[in-house]
Amino acid sequence: MIPDFSSSITSLFYTIALLVLAKVLYNLVIKPYFALSYYKKQGVLVRYSPFYGNMTHWVGHIKKRGDFLALWKDYGQQNPKPKAVALNFGPSIRLSIIDTGLIKEFIMNNDLHMRDPTVTRALSLLLGRAFSLSDGPIWRKQRKFFSAGFHFDFLESKVPMIIKTTEEFLENFKKQDMNNIALKAEVQLLLGTIIGKSFIGEEFGKYTLNGKPVVPFIADLVKRVGCLLTDKAYHLLGVRFVKLGVLKRWRDINRDTKEFKTFFRKIVEEKFLSLQNADQEQLQKKPNKCMIELFHLQRVAKPQDALSDEEIIDQFISFHSGGLESTSGVTTMMAYYSLTNPIYQEKLLEEVQTYFKDPSQVTLEKLNQMDYLNAFMKEVLRMASPVITVMPRVAMQDHKIGDILVKKGTILNVPFASNNFSNEYHDNPDKFDPERWLKNSTSLEKSKSDPYSFIPFGVGPRTCIGQNFAMIEVRIIFSLFLKKFKYQLTDPNYKLVFTQTLAYEPETPILFKLTPRS
Ligand code: HEM
Repeated sequence: MIPDFSSSITSLFYTIALLVLAKVLYNLVIKPYFALSYYKKQGVLVRYSPFYGNMTHWVGHIKKRGDFLALWKDYGQQNPKPKAVALNFGPSIRLSIIDTGLIKEFIMNNDLHMRDPTVTRALSLLLGRAFSLSDGPIWRKQRKFFSAGFHFDFLESKVPMIIKTTEEFLENFKKQDMNNIALKAEVQLLLGTIIGKSFIGEEFGKYTLNGKPVVPFIADLVKRVGCLLTDKAYHLLGVRFVKLGVLKRWRDINRDTKEFKTFFRKIVEEKFLSLQNADQEQLQKKPNKCMIELFHLQRVAKPQDALSDEEIIDQFISFHSGGLESTSGVTTMMAYYSLTNPIYQEKLLEEVQTYFKDPSQVTLEKLNQMDYLNAFMKEVLRMASPVITVMPRVAMQDHKIGDILVKKGTILNVPFASNNFSNEYHDNPDKFDPERWLKNSTSLEKSKSDPYSFIPFGVGPRTCIGQNFAMIEVRIIFSLFLKKFKYQLTDPNYKLVFTQTLAYEPETPILFKLTPRS
């Protein structure tokens, strides 16, 4: 008798299809359900959404309420406020910590968590071994090395360069169509130049790559690599396929990364070589050193702690990745809120005209004395910071955070919006009110009552290394912009809607119409 192959192939096909379906259902429906039940039993607020529903839900709030973060702001105003929220993205579980006592415990126990590999694998294509992506002893060594580039003396010495570069940059606006200035994109180019000059020295401004200015090249590359984090194909196929260049956009990233690193490696090697041949005593005494000069001196003083050229290059790119979107976002939102709140703009202008009368006399100390500007910047960081959470970490083992037993593999983060918009920490939290941060404000005590409630730069060992640098840049760029230009929105009917891409930002870029102040 001849066996019926066609029916056994059909039944094999159905069996395989059933097994695949069962696996998908298990991973995207059953597994997250039980994982979330585990946290629910511990008093954590849970949002279960089979398949990929949670992301759809958040994105839904952009349309419904004009704000990607609407739900997180609601949590902050709930009474009682949830101590944490657990939700699923497909099979992975995220625990977002809101209670400030738990935030402190989570952040301070750095060694129990590592960077989320889904994030670090994508970014490392460009950022390589940058310390923002590393953990444990490697991170500690690198962070210590780079801290030299962000200490007080270094930052203070960079103020004149930041002012001069910004003034030149703003002058260039006058050569463009001043009715349509996309401030955020423009400021990113300025920031790239400032980071480059701080790192390599004044000559950075003159570098070109293939005959084109280097800053737009790196700014664009950083953005494209960052977009991998929301690239569905990357999440489906993984980083190996990106490296193989399966899609054109991935091949372009690989090509441009190679090109930039080859270009920059040559600059760094030449710079270190010339520093080795320089008079070391004079170099020690030189005021206003750039980072490469500091790193060279560190290498000579402590060769055992020295980092390779490659690590230094990776870090340079990482400063672009950490600094461009965030700092340009804050500066742009300051311009926006100063327009929508003209009373505050008048007071800001008055202060700027006093302190920036002669910009060459501005120092870090003077910037710190600008109470109104500092309060205004803080309020923008509270209401509309482009960075909405600390970098996500993964629990490396089962452990406790307060009374919550966290399972190994859970992804942890801190959604800043919940406490930034909580009545517990701010009177009238939905109102844009920079004066809440002024010394004589009746609500200052409340806003400052808990050091873990307002942490736009993170806190603890992994706090943003560039925070003081960023705050100097923001204050100088915004002050000079305000001093030099009267501005208004290009579209008087512009409606602010917040989305989340690489950063939390306006869904439609804000365009400004500028008129030079006489
Ligand atoms: C307004 C601007 C900025 C904001 C709001 C911001 C915010 C943050 C936040 C929230 C973190 C994560 C902290 C954590 O995971 O615990 C971070 C980390 C970091 N930021 Fe910033 N940042 C800004 C500007 C900058 C600038 C200008 C640079 C560099 C020049 C920079 C470099 C970094 C680096 C390297 C890290 C990783 C630190 C580590 O892993 O040890 N940031 N930033």
